[in-house]
Amino acid sequence: MAKFSTKSSVQQDILVMLAAEHRSIEQRIDALEAANHAVEAERRFRELYRILFLHHYGETLVFYPSMREYEQTAVYLETVEEEHSTTMVLLEQMRQLSPVDPTFQARLDELKELIMGHIEEEENEIFAAVRTCMDEQELRQLAQEFKSIQIKTAPKIEARIKDLNP
Ligand SMILES: [Fe+2]
Ligand SMILES: [Fe+2]
Repeated sequence: MAKFSTKSSVQQDILVMLAAEHRSIEQRIDALEAANHAVEAERRFRELYRILFLHHYGETLVFYPSMREYEQTAVYLETVEEEHSTTMVLLEQMRQLSPVDPTFQARLDELKELIMGHIEEEENEIFAAVRTCMDEQELRQLAQEFKSIQIKTAPKIEARIKDLNP
């Protein structure tokens, strides 16, 4: 059983992996919005921060550089890189605020709108363009690199979210 799950994760391609993370990000945003009190919201924010930071970081270091190699995909980079930067600015602003602060809620609304549009663009336009340029072997290789960057970066994220809203 363990052997099977190891094998399947290694063989997954990066587009399948990214789409699965998108679903988790959407769920975490919904969970944060639905939080009933400050302590729950802080916990939900940590979860969202962790997954969103790691997702964007992996895309920025592994997926987007691979898109730069092909004309059909390079054209999307300017927009999506800017959206990643804005996302990180919003996340860092939220990190400094209490979830009960109205500014936190306003930033969350902005973040949600930005992320939903960004995910839609990646899945509806970019992924299709990527499939026309990259073969399955390249997509699987990228999935491995993406995962290994995330594993290496995870401890840094934990250190950042430890001191959230002290
Ligand atoms: Fe992205
Ligand atoms: Fe993404």
